[in-house]
Amino acid sequence: MPDPVSTTADDAIAGLGIEERARLGSGRDFWTTEPIGAIPSITMSDGPHGLRHQDPAHAGDALGIGPSIPATCFPPAVGLSQSWDPGLAERVGAAIGREAQAAGVQIVLGPGINIKRDPRCGRNFEYYSEDPHLTAALATGWVRGLQQQGVGASLKHFAANNAEFDRMRSSSDIDPRPLREIYLRAFQRVVTAAAPWTVMCSYNKINGVYAAQNRWLLTDVLRGEWGFAGAVVSDWGAVDDRVAAVAAGLDLAMPGADEVGDQRVAEAVQDGSLPESTLQATAHRMAALALGAAANARPETRWDIDEHHSLARTVAARCAVLLKNEHGVLPLERSGNIAVIGEFATEPRYQGGGSSHVNATRVDIALDEIRALAGEATVTHARGFDTANAAAAADLRAEAVTTAAGADIAVVFLGLAAAQESEGFDREHIEIPADQVELLSAVRAVQSRVVVILAHGGVVRLAPIVDAADAILATALLGQAGGGAIADLLFGVADPCGRLTETVPVRLADVPAYDNFPGENGHVRYGEGLFVGYRWYDRRELEVTYPFGHGLSYTTFEYGDIHTTADDETVTATLRITNTGSRPGREIVQLYRGRESSAVLRAPRELCGFATVELEAGAAQDVTVVIPRDEFAYWNEAAGRWLVEGGEYTLFAGASSRDLRARTTVALTGDPVTVPLTRESSLAEVMTHPVAGPELGEQLQPLLGDSGSAGADLGIDMAQMVGSIPIGRLALTFGGLMTAAQLDDFLDRANTGATGR
Ligand code: BGC
Repeated sequence: MPDPVSTTADDAIAGLGIEERARLGSGRDFWTTEPIGAIPSITMSDGPHGLRHQDPAHAGDALGIGPSIPATCFPPAVGLSQSWDPGLAERVGAAIGREAQAAGVQIVLGPGINIKRDPRCGRNFEYYSEDPHLTAALATGWVRGLQQQGVGASLKHFAANNAEFDRMRSSSDIDPRPLREIYLRAFQRVVTAAAPWTVMCSYNKINGVYAAQNRWLLTDVLRGEWGFAGAVVSDWGAVDDRVAAVAAGLDLAMPGADEVGDQRVAEAVQDGSLPESTLQATAHRMAALALGAAANARPETRWDIDEHHSLARTVAARCAVLLKNEHGVLPLERSGNIAVIGEFATEPRYQGGGSSHVNATRVDIALDEIRALAGEATVTHARGFDTANAAAAADLRAEAVTTAAGADIAVVFLGLAAAQESEGFDREHIEIPADQVELLSAVRAVQSRVVVILAHGGVVRLAPIVDAADAILATALLGQAGGGAIADLLFGVADPCGRLTETVPVRLADVPAYDNFPGENGHVRYGEGLFVGYRWYDRRELEVTYPFGHGLSYTTFEYGDIHTTADDETVTATLRITNTGSRPGREIVQLYRGRESSAVLRAPRELCGFATVELEAGAAQDVTVVIPRDEFAYWNEAAGRWLVEGGEYTLFAGASSRDLRARTTVALTGDPVTVPLTRESSLAEVMTHPVAGPELGEQLQPLLGDSGSAGADLGIDMAQMVGSIPIGRLALTFGGLMTAAQLDDFLDRANTGATGR
């Protein structure tokens, strides 16, 4: 919630009748809320990588697709995340906050933090990663930066909105552990660490219930468990049944006006089917939000277009990932002849389509920026391909081959056109267009030094092009200053320091959700469970083209041993990083935790912390990563809570999820937990209970005799066989061990008398 103000929410709603309170819960138009009494209107705008504020003169268009005012287009989340830099995300959030203040916008609809479950999701460019830890760290930075400017965030899309297909109806069917450990985890972290003013619920259903009408999600978990004090806003058009939504904990149905819904809410309160206290609570939250937003408004704010463009360039340079660099082909020399090939060199692909699309203040053209930094070098250019005209492919390719043949090196821009991916639909494949692959091999045939610059919002398959390039710079989408940043990186003005936030698979058939995406018959089954992204490829021991976390620099780093200390709250890991190359550089040290033997299924390794270090050539520094204890926890379904298993964990330090350079072990004390025993509890579960286990052991002794030999005549392992039998059946059916009354008494004593592991 925004800072407190002098008119309290209590005062503001005190004089309002039921109908007026109901009206607080829906918008006035596409972007604003209705001012009622002392409660002012709120203005909202998209979106996460720049402000999409519609010119009020055009705000009336019902779809919100009219023109928006010029704003700085920073790298979309797919690019920003590759910086692995929460501090940088905070600076971007702050810059967007300043632009929002100047435009009179009080809530910016972002960040989008859904997990990239499948590379085909059309909106992956708006999301950060396949990993919840990394997603949460970056989004926390972004929200803090924005809100420090007095502008509220809207953490979206809550929750499990991981595909565009049928997004307004489909049910994401997810088991409790993946739901908590993968899909809700980043939301939980950002809510508790950065207190966003609002959370935006998603369009889809979760296990059969619309997010907008899901009381478990919006009230029990978000408010009850995580302590969220802000308002829940619906995604635009996500509310199917307004009364059910209010009952579930939704505060604001957008867009407006929903007069019919307001009326129904008021009637439901009047006829007693919706408790008046529920309406009171939601009206209070809306009043607090609007009053706080107004009190934080600074319409006199000014921002400088050049300054923000230059920040966008600094940020973009940190976001590109150098996937390979053979024979030190990069950085480029500022002499000789450089052939720049590809449509995207002159018509940059720098953001995605849909509600986040920004009207950029200006756009850097990579070819111009390369020329500006090329010094003595001659820079030639050929278009190479035309994304809008496939028929031109052969001619453009022939021209590009001639250009490349006459040069000392070819820099080839490849990627996906805007029309090939966007909000609203998913891709059916992850291939780079065939004419571009052909172009690259034709260039390769005449030119021995080839650099590829990639631009795309969703992951593309790189296996067909990897061998045709000496160096590959994966820019994802870099925003309006991407062209300048690419030139900085190519000439070594900036060192590439981005790291992948998604795995690049060898083929589509290897991806975790291959058989469960995008779903059918209104359901998408999250059948891969916990094994999303690198968790899947590692567990299946699948080869990948580039692993999560991968990225090179123009220098090299050496990792020392990991030293750890632990207390009740944290594990602290320290290791020495040395720059062993001849240039300054920035390393991102990634920490993964694993557990050899566990009571539950786990991924071999999971990211649990990371840190960055900037080092001059030859310099060394100790890097410390503090890992909160809850990074070791899993969601225990029976107990309905997070639980740290006691015992040993392995901690790996790596330059990627597959380039593990150091390891150590750390021992943790387990959380005490009471898992209530019932008649359904298996004998094995009862035997591990501290009170019930020993008592039952004594009772079973006469029955089973010596456990080592029991069952031997039948060729069975008696302990294993009997272990899975529910105590209710064992006690009452098989051995007549106890009467029903004795069993209930036994379970009662166990449940009231002890805590167990
Ligand atoms: C999108 C949201 C966006 C909203 C307003 C919806 O279609 O899913 O992300 O904030 O529109 O434009």
